[in-house]
Amino acid sequence: MDDSKAIEVNDGIYWVGFSDENAGFSNNPYLLIEGESVVLFDPGSRLPEHFEIVKKKIESVIPIEKITMIVVHHQDPDLCASIPLFEEIIGVNNFELIATMRTSLLLPYYGIRTEITTVEDGDILELDNGREIMFITSPYLHFAGAHVSYDMKTKTMFSSDIFAAFSADWNLYANENYTEAMRIFHEPYIAHKSAIDSFANKIKDIELKMICPQHGSVIKEESISRCMEALLSFEVGSWLI
Ligand SMILES: [Fe+2]
Ligand SMILES: [Fe+2]
Repeated sequence: MDDSKAIEVNDGIYWVGFSDENAGFSNNPYLLIEGESVVLFDPGSRLPEHFEIVKKKIESVIPIEKITMIVVHHQDPDLCASIPLFEEIIGVNNFELIATMRTSLLLPYYGIRTEITTVEDGDILELDNGREIMFITSPYLHFAGAHVSYDMKTKTMFSSDIFAAFSADWNLYANENYTEAMRIFHEPYIAHKSAIDSFANKIKDIELKMICPQHGSVIKEESISRCMEALLSFEVGSWLI
């Protein structure tokens, strides 16, 4: 796969991630461009070999300085340790940084200096041309203050670690082996089934046409019900004795 070009997976939504074959997983920041609004979801690792790929892919569609918002779904280093590197290019406070209150408390520990806009369950962000992003909290999946984002135009969910997967045999789009790769990720990393059930109940009336997780593969509409059924069937908390 060409490591210098972003791939448009939906209307204005670009995959700007990479697959780390040695580690057996992919890291998937996504870029959403709507008019002057340029939103980067879960920007990623600060390791030079990771950051340079993400940077190059973003630059294949738009200059980094044009980013207007960064959304961070939880505080893990694989999705937000690179934010200070983006600050060096865009400038501190020259973009909006969005997270839940609980996530926002931990972000300064990475040396992030941009002020954080905190969001709550159900908040809607309006982008250029009236395109709307809804934020949905996902408690304990897998962090107390985790949330996901939902693009109302394309009905795409940026699901962070939910629907994520570990796989040495990675594809950009989920195939028939994906639910097994999801299982390997979820069973140890999610502590309790009630967190999944509660989230599934919360989103049951939300129409989903695409899911973009932070690891693993992009899930197209035809695979969503299969992946949702799998998610509900996992025996999570597998490291508990
Ligand atoms: Fe995580
Ligand atoms: Fe992650």
